[in-house]
Amino acid sequence: MQPETQDRLRAELMSFSTTEPSYDDFVSLALPYLDAVVREALRLHPILSEFLCVALEGDILPLTTPIWTPAGELLDKLPIHKGTVVTVSSYYTNTAKSIWGEDAAEFKPERWLDGQDVPAAAKELPGYHHTMVFSDGPRACLGKGFALTEMKVIFLHPL
Ligand code: HEM
Repeated sequence: MQPETQDRLRAELMSFSTTEPSYDDFVSLALPYLDAVVREALRLHPILSEFLCVALEGDILPLTTPIWTPAGELLDKLPIHKGTVVTVSSYYTNTAKSIWGEDAAEFKPERWLDGQDVPAAAKELPGYHHTMVFSDGPRACLGKGFALTEMKVIFLHPL
């Protein structure tokens, strides 16, 4: 991690009077920089960088950007047949320059802080802060709240 990021995070975490905070401490005390660091860490390192879904019924998938097929046909939607396995790549959508801008690959927690605006293309994405880190919808991660709290506790321990 960059030294400036570490210094800023440490300064914020020193506002805790204990290295063993309770769950209530976590939810009541505002730690905006820690939130931003966790969000940015998950954006660039989504753990499950991709996951698979199986279409239970046929559907038509509209495409944001049309694609050319090898046969030279321009498609703005894709037919998905029942039983098709669809790969959802959160790593791609979390790091695409077309979505997050030219600095998409950089670890920049500041992009999440007040006064910064997440790009409009990112705002259109569903999921945890416009990432698919925990998937989305009825089969989204059940341990999201637990995982996020644990990640924050881990940052506190070296203090
Ligand atoms: C940062 C840590 C974690 C990440 C990034 C994560 C991410 C995900 C993702 C992407 C899925 C959907 C997988 C799929 O559709 O194939 C999922 C499902 C799930 N996760 Fe997590 N997870 C995390 C931690 C946890 C923890 C700590 C627990 C339990 C305490 C947990 C419990 C579950 C369960 C039960 C499901 C299946 C939900 C269902 O199919 O209805 N996860 N997780």
